[in-house]
Amino acid sequence: MFEETFSQAWRLRYGDGPPVEVPELAPLLRHRSVRKFSDRPVPEETMQGLIAAAQSAATSSNLQLYSIVSVQEPERRENIAKLCADQDQIRDAAWFFAFLVDHCRLRTAAEGAGQDPGGLDYTEFYTMAVVDAALAAERMVCAAEFLGMGICYIGALRNDPEAIKELLKLPDGVFGVFGLCIGYPAEDSEAEIRPRLRQHAIWFREEYNADAETEEYDERMRSFYVSEGVKGAVTWSMRSGRRVDGFHMTGRETQKEWLEGQGFNRR
Ligand SMILES: Cc1cc2nc3c(=O)[nH]c(=O)nc-3n(C[C@H](O)[C@H](O)[C@H](O)COP(=O)(O)O)c2cc1C
Repeated sequence: MFEETFSQAWRLRYGDGPPVEVPELAPLLRHRSVRKFSDRPVPEETMQGLIAAAQSAATSSNLQLYSIVSVQEPERRENIAKLCADQDQIRDAAWFFAFLVDHCRLRTAAEGAGQDPGGLDYTEFYTMAVVDAALAAERMVCAAEFLGMGICYIGALRNDPEAIKELLKLPDGVFGVFGLCIGYPAEDSEAEIRPRLRQHAIWFREEYNADAETEEYDERMRSFYVSEGVKGAVTWSMRSGRRVDGFHMTGRETQKEWLEGQGFNRR
């Protein structure tokens, strides 16, 4: 249902045209988060294909330090939605997945093989697991979008990790790092391609450039927010700055202690 060409999608991302047409990349450039889903089902067999895509992602040292829990039972889905800032897309998507940082499986496997998995409490293995989970998820996302579905990541899964642990019966060493809604978009989903920073602001040559300007992006985002019905002349810097002011942490301000209590990041 989203049908922008490569060139149209590029223009919506960057505000100007591409240097060259690469039509094959259009499906990737068309991504937008979908927050309104239709009730069209996504069969289990299709989902198995998407999981295979996720598992085909590269994974550090083949450790596969992530797991996925799908939540389809309506009551449990409702509970997840409530724990995740009451977001309706969690209720409505054909599928909801909790992506998990998972040290438990490797700990058990290592112990079974007579190894000491004590090193798992290094921050390195937490970082590795987060990267693994994200790579797997994004591959699943690309596959779903390629098949005409829409997605919405749910960072709010981290708002109350203890309640999520209880609800999904997560053992120690497992952390719900983000959620993912997948389904067919509603006809009136109104999901639009969201502008991004121009490439020179994020792609530096040889050395980092701390002077890369974001003013031009602020202006494009100001117009985009207006088109979305956001009141006031808000820019990306203003809105994103508020997100990181430390006063809008929605429960995640205690994450460090919680993770350490679970055995993550102790050294
Ligand atoms: C890890 C992660 C967590 C996110 N959490 C949420 C969320 O809880 N709720 C939501 O509506 N969107 C969430 N998003 C979607 C972002 O807001 C969205 O990707 C961003 O605004 C860019 O828009 P786009 O995906 O439409 O390009 C999340 C995205 C990521 C990558």
